[in-house]
Amino acid sequence: MSGNAEAFDRARAVIPGGVSSPVRAFGSVGGTPVFVSRAEGARIVDVEGREYLDLVGSWGPALLGHAHPEVVAAVQAAAARGLSFGAPTLAEAELAELVRERVPLARKVRFVSTGTEACMTAVRLARGATGRDLVVKFSGCYHGHSDALLAAAGSGVITAGLPGSAGVPAAATAQTLVVPYNDADALREVFAARGTEIAAVITEPAAANMGVVPPVPGFNELLRELTTAHGALLVYDEVLTGFRVSRAGWWGLEGGAVTPDLFTFGKVVGGGLPLAAIGGRADLLDLLAPVGPVYQAGTLSGNPLATAAGIATLRLADDAVYAAVDAASATLSAAVASALDAAGVPHRLQRAGSLFSVFWGVTGPVLDDASAQRQDVGAYRAFFHAMLDAGVALPPSAYEAWFLSAAHDDAVLDRITGALPGAARAAAAVLGA
Ligand SMILES: Cc1ncc(COP(=O)(O)O)c(C=O)c1O
Repeated sequence: MSGNAEAFDRARAVIPGGVSSPVRAFGSVGGTPVFVSRAEGARIVDVEGREYLDLVGSWGPALLGHAHPEVVAAVQAAAARGLSFGAPTLAEAELAELVRERVPLARKVRFVSTGTEACMTAVRLARGATGRDLVVKFSGCYHGHSDALLAAAGSGVITAGLPGSAGVPAAATAQTLVVPYNDADALREVFAARGTEIAAVITEPAAANMGVVPPVPGFNELLRELTTAHGALLVYDEVLTGFRVSRAGWWGLEGGAVTPDLFTFGKVVGGGLPLAAIGGRADLLDLLAPVGPVYQAGTLSGNPLATAAGIATLRLADDAVYAAVDAASATLSAAVASALDAAGVPHRLQRAGSLFSVFWGVTGPVLDDASAQRQDVGAYRAFFHAMLDAGVALPPSAYEAWFLSAAHDDAVLDRITGALPGAARAAAAVLGA
């Protein structure tokens, strides 16, 4: 039987880095990536037949756990009816209705295939609607890899140690103003200087791509206040948080205190298949082609398998699912903190709803990208590999959230918890604690 090392060699010969998305290559933690052969519930199985308890969750979509039988059945039934039509289906309207039911501000919804496309389209729409070019984003927030948004862009880029990306023209990011997250003064300054030119502010309303960094109280409200005062739009990128941290994502956890003009969704809304969406004010969404002048399209957009997975996932994600994920997150984060305390590992654990991550060797609050990068990724590397050896697969980067699912029951959490003390000692050894 071929092992992970052989699989990696084979893949690297034909695929750059052997992976279809960079963080999967284990570049920041070192070692050989786990090549997955199948997954079910909270478990993944690699090509060697080894089982791991999974805290990656496909980087967010697996809210119900992997391969939920009802989601799989919905996809199989859809597949039997045809894989792609390039024509409208009623399933798209049904999924859009489900999104609107949960996030009523998403009066209309356009489906695309990736979060990258959703955010790229939101920016184009904001520019088309306002006739302005500038976009404000926050350093450490990731909104996909479109040119305009690939400036100071969070985990993948931090992990690669790059300031941005080769191949992005300076002209593309010259229209992007980058501000530190949670920095009200910097934001006020930007609006005071260039407010009449700003089309939109795009934000992760709770940031989770520089590790988990929730907004300080009042920060998202300030975004709304400043954008409204200057005629700019506010875009909530809920690709990661949407339908994960609550039925209605982070916006729901805020209790509707902030009213964004546009949202982007991805991950959970596609139930593990490639599907994402832009939602928001009807007058804005109706600027998209074919109704309006802002062009956007996709051969596989609203794909029938992906919409079937999304519909099944949202229908299954009831209050009990969110309560289970919240409880699992509370249990695991408390266990992690106490194992790190017992081993004398200085750390900062931060939460945003059920999302959490650990900053290693840092004790004060992490409010932005600069403070996130003060952590000691070497400690995480040691912790990560000790956990992996014990059969627990964590995200292969210190700058990612740990993803739980409704399938992380007490038995799974007990096994993960059992692996923590040894991994905490490995991290302590790196930090000299
Ligand atoms: C907040 C956020 N926006 C956008 C994206 C991009 O989504 P995708 O990877 O589907 O292109 C991600 C991906 O992790 C994300 O976390």
